[in-house]
Amino acid sequence: MPKVHVMDHPLIQHKMSYIRDKETSTKVFRELVDEVGALMAYEVTRELELEDVEVETPITKMTAKRLSGKKIAIVPILRAGLGMQEGMLRLIPSARVGHVGLYRDPVTLEAIEYYAKFPGDIEERDIFVIDPMLATGASAVEAIKAIKKRGAKKISFLCLIAAPEGVEVLKEAHPDVNIYIAALDEKLNDKSYIVPGLGDAGDRLFGTK
Ligand code: URA
Repeated sequence: MPKVHVMDHPLIQHKMSYIRDKETSTKVFRELVDEVGALMAYEVTRELELEDVEVETPITKMTAKRLSGKKIAIVPILRAGLGMQEGMLRLIPSARVGHVGLYRDPVTLEAIEYYAKFPGDIEERDIFVIDPMLATGASAVEAIKAIKKRGAKKISFLCLIAAPEGVEVLKEAHPDVNIYIAALDEKLNDKSYIVPGLGDAGDRLFGTK
C-alpha cells in the first residue's frame, strides 16, 4: 500500500496558516506556496541514494557523500501545480520538468488530458507530481495515469492540502504511489472544495476570478 506522509513541520504549519487566510494577498500567497514547495522538496528527497566520493579539504583527505546521480523529474499539474514548481527546483535544480493539463468534462465530470509534455527519459527518473490541492482525486489519478503511460515507474504525489476522500481515491487507483501532504483536512463540500481548505488554489496564485 502507498505511504501517506503528513509533513507537519512547524515551518510548514506556520506558512500554511497564512496560505489558508483569505486576507493573504496574491503576492504573499504565491511566495508562501513557493516556500512550502521548497520545504516539501527537502522532505521528499530524504531517501535519495548517496555514494562515497573522495575529497580533499584544506586539512586532509576524506570520504564524503554525494547524490548518486539519480535522475528526478517534477511534474506540476496545470495550472495550480506551477505554484510549487520553482520552490522545488531551487532545492533540486537539475531536475527536469514535465507538465500535464487536464480539464473536467462538464457532462461526465471525468478529468480529460489536454496537454502533456514529459522528459524523454521519464522511465529512468523518480517523478514528483505536484498539485496544491488533492480534492476528489480525479486530476491526480488521471495525471499519474498519463505519466505511467509514458513509462514512469517510481512516482510520488505532493500536495499542500488533501481531503480524506481524495487520498482514498488516489491510494485505490495507484497503490504504488507515495503521497506527501502538508495538511490533511476534514472533507469536501458539495462543490468539491476542500473544507476548511484555502479556496481555489489556481485563482489565489494567479489573482484570477
Ligand atoms: N481545487 C482547489 O483549488 N481548491 C479546492 O478546495 C479543491 C480543488
